[in-house]
Amino acid sequence: MSDGAPSALRLSNIVRVYDQNIGKLEVLRGASCTIQAGELVALVGPSGSGKSTLLHIAGLLEQPTRGKVEIAGVEAGGLDDGGRTALRRETIGFVYQFHRLLPEFSALENIVVPQMIAGKSRKEAGERAQVLLDRVGLAARASHRPGKLSGGEQQRVAIARALANAPALLLADEPTGNLDPKTAEDVFAVLRELIAETKLGALIATHNLDLARRMDRVIELKDGFLIDA
Ligand SMILES: Nc1ncnc2c1ncn2[C@@H]1O[C@H](COP(=O)(O)OP(=O)(O)O)[C@@H](O)[C@H]1O
Ligand SMILES: [Mg+2]
Repeated sequence: MSDGAPSALRLSNIVRVYDQNIGKLEVLRGASCTIQAGELVALVGPSGSGKSTLLHIAGLLEQPTRGKVEIAGVEAGGLDDGGRTALRRETIGFVYQFHRLLPEFSALENIVVPQMIAGKSRKEAGERAQVLLDRVGLAARASHRPGKLSGGEQQRVAIARALANAPALLLADEPTGNLDPKTAEDVFAVLRELIAETKLGALIATHNLDLARRMDRVIELKDGFLIDA
């Protein structure tokens, strides 16, 4: 980029082979992509094409069989487990299809916890959590547990949580896949606004081609490779 900011994500020739009882399954065969800071990119491809695998590798939750993963200019391949965990915590936010919020904690606490793990004080983390809840339109729901929230509200809390530590990269695995069309639209709108504001790079797997078309760019997983769609 012109201002010299590193790419949010750079995947180079990612190969991922799974050992299955029927033999080896080569899910990713040399997938490459670059997501710039501020860019919102859709990841599409049929079920089973490897979207979740690719996101887990980009999110440092899973190691590729071969290939290079760089997050915000840092190459993950040379890091040990502790280094990978720290890099993930400091630079990556992840949103899943099902919110995965902690059921015993309030919406606010769910956004506080990752910040405290990253070393912030309870007070500082709480203030930022309030701001984020307000930003996703849920200021009035701060004390509610996830079970008392609707599906769309749960996903908005999950988005606020993913952004809690101001990541450089947001990864989302079918974040609206579990929502009705109107709610999916609302959640997408919040996601898009926050990405534009925070200048993070985002890669979002989706089956919703209407949403995909409205992102900056669409890439497709096909036969283990990423192609511009
Ligand atoms: N841990 C695993 N062990 C073996 N096979 C796996 C594992 N995870 C995923 N797969 C296989 O890899 C393929 C891609 O899966 P996935 O990444 O979940 O695709 P998508 O998210 O596009 O539906 C599927 O055939 C799936 O069965
Ligand atoms: Mg998947």
